[in-house]
Amino acid sequence: MSGRIQEAINSTATPLEQRAQWQALLAHANENGARSLQDFFDADPHRGSRLCGEAAGLYLDYSKQRVDATTVSLLVALADACGVDKAIAAMFSGARINTTEDRPALHVALRAPLTERIELDGHSVVPDVHAVLEHMANFSAQVRDGRWTGFSGKRIRNIINIGIGGSDLGPVMAYEALRHYSQRDLTLRFVSNVDPTDFIEATRDIDPAETLFIVCSKTFTTEETLTNAQAAREWCLASLKDPAAIPRHFVAVSANPEAVGAFGIDPANRFGFWDWVGGRYSMDSAIGLSTMIAIGADNFRDMLAGFRAMDVHFRDTPFVRNLPVLMALIGVWNTNFLGAETVAVLPYAQYLKRFPAYLQQLMMESNGKQVSLEGHRMGVQTGPIYWGEAGTNGQHSFYQLLHQGTRLVPCDFIGFCQSLNPLDKQHDLLMANLFAQGEALAFGKGADAVRAEGSVEALVPHRVFEGNRPSSTILFDRLTPHALGALVALYEHSAFVQGRIWNIDSFDQWGVKLGKQLAKSAQAELLAELPDLRHDSSTNTLIRHYRERRLGEETRDGKERR
Ligand code: F6P
Repeated sequence: MSGRIQEAINSTATPLEQRAQWQALLAHANENGARSLQDFFDADPHRGSRLCGEAAGLYLDYSKQRVDATTVSLLVALADACGVDKAIAAMFSGARINTTEDRPALHVALRAPLTERIELDGHSVVPDVHAVLEHMANFSAQVRDGRWTGFSGKRIRNIINIGIGGSDLGPVMAYEALRHYSQRDLTLRFVSNVDPTDFIEATRDIDPAETLFIVCSKTFTTEETLTNAQAAREWCLASLKDPAAIPRHFVAVSANPEAVGAFGIDPANRFGFWDWVGGRYSMDSAIGLSTMIAIGADNFRDMLAGFRAMDVHFRDTPFVRNLPVLMALIGVWNTNFLGAETVAVLPYAQYLKRFPAYLQQLMMESNGKQVSLEGHRMGVQTGPIYWGEAGTNGQHSFYQLLHQGTRLVPCDFIGFCQSLNPLDKQHDLLMANLFAQGEALAFGKGADAVRAEGSVEALVPHRVFEGNRPSSTILFDRLTPHALGALVALYEHSAFVQGRIWNIDSFDQWGVKLGKQLAKSAQAELLAELPDLRHDSSTNTLIRHYRERRLGEETRDGKERR
C-alpha cells in the first residue's frame, strides 16, 4: 500500500461517529428534527430558487430535502474534516485510492482530453485511452456501414453483448437511454444471466451469419460470461460449420489478452481497458463498444464530453455549489441522521427504464461495506439501498408506500424539459406527474383539507398525506448523450464522496466472492451424485431435493426423460 494512502487512512482513523463534526450534525438533527418541509418553505419564500444548482447542463433542485443553510454548512464541515478535497485530488491524480486492491480508480481518465496528463507509474494513460477510442470508432464505423461482414459475407444486423455486472448494466442502460440516436437497422441485445433462457431467447429469431458477439469481461474469468460466450460459439459453429468463422463473429472487450486469445478471438479485435477502471465505472470505456456501434462515435464522444463536464465541475467547484458533493452529503444526512434506508430513483423518461438497475450496482457495490478502510466494523450505516422504476409506472405500483407508508424513502426524480418523441401534450402530462409527485410527497394533505373535500370522518385518517417526505429533482433540457454522461458522472462522484465520508473503499467488491466460491463446489455436487453432502442441513436438503427432480419425474423412476 502506498505511503500516501496509508497516510490518508491514518489521518481519518478517528471513528466517524466520534468526530466533532458528526456530533454537531447529530445535535442539529435533534434540534431541527421537528421542522417540516412546510416550515422550511414558510420560513424562506425563495427556498425553491435558492436550494438548487446547475452544472454540465444538469439542474438540481434539492429544496425539497429536509436541510437548511446550517445543515448544509455542517455537512460541508464534515466533508472537509473527512478530507474529501484531498480524496478528489488523489482520484484525479491517479493515486491508488482503491486501497484494498492497491489500485487507482481512474475512470475520470476515460473522458479526459488528450491535453490532460494523468500519470500512472510514470506513464501517461490518456493517450492509451484515446488510442482505444480510435480503435472502437474505426470498428464501429465498419459495422455500422456494412464493411464488417460475417464469415459468409453477409452484413452484420445483430449485435449481442455478452457480459454481466458492469460489463452488462452500463451497456444495456446506455443503449436503452440513447436508443433514439441508434442506427435502427441494427438489433442490439444483451445476454448476462447464466440462466440458458437468456441466451436462447436472445438468439432464437436471428441468423448466426448476421450476428456479432461482443464478449465483455474485464477479467475474462467471469463464469456466467464465459459460459454464455461458449454457448454463443457453439451456436455459431452449428450453423457456420467452420472455426475460421469465429474471428468474424466475435470480438472482446477485456483487460486480459491471454484469455481472449485462448477463446479464439483475434487479438486485433480485443478492445482493451485497464485494471484502474472498475467494472461499475466502465460504461464509458471500451465496455461501451455496443453503445458506440449503436449511436456512432460522434454521439459516444458527446457522451464522454458530458461525463467530462461533470468531472470538471466536481473537481473545481467549492463544496457548497458542487452538485455531486451536495447530493452525497444530502444522502449522508438522510441515511445517518434521518434514518432513511433506501433511495428511490424515479426517472420520468421511458428511455431511462434501466437506469435504476444500473445505479443499483454503481451505488450498492460501491458503498455496501461493513468495515472502514482500517478494517474496523462500521459504527454507522453505510450505503443505502437503491431501487426504482420509470415514472409514471411506479405511481401505479409502489408510490402508495412512498406517500403513506411508515418508512422514510427519499426520492430522486429525473426529468427532461423536451421530449425526443413529442406526441400532442403527452410530455407535459408526464412532467406534470413528476412535479406533482414531488409536491405531494413534500407537502401532503392534512386532515382539514380532507374534511373540506367532504370525506366521511372514518376515512379521514386513511386519506391524509402527512407530507414531509424528501426528494431531489434533476432536470435536463433533453436526453442527449451529453446529458446521460453528466447524469452518470453525477452519481459516480456522489458515491465516491459518500465513501470518503464513511471512510470505506468504494472501489472494491469483496462481498461478491463467497457466493461465487460456494456455487462452484455446489455445482459439482449437483451433477456428481456424491452422497456425502457437507453443507448445513438446509442446503443439503435443498440439493437433494433438486437432484431428485432435475431430470424430470420419469427419469427418477428409471424411465426416459420426458
Ligand atoms: O460481480 C462482481 C463483478 O466483479 C463486478 O464488479 C463486475 O462488474 C462483474 O463482476 C463483471 O466482471 P468482468 O467484467 O470481469 O466479467
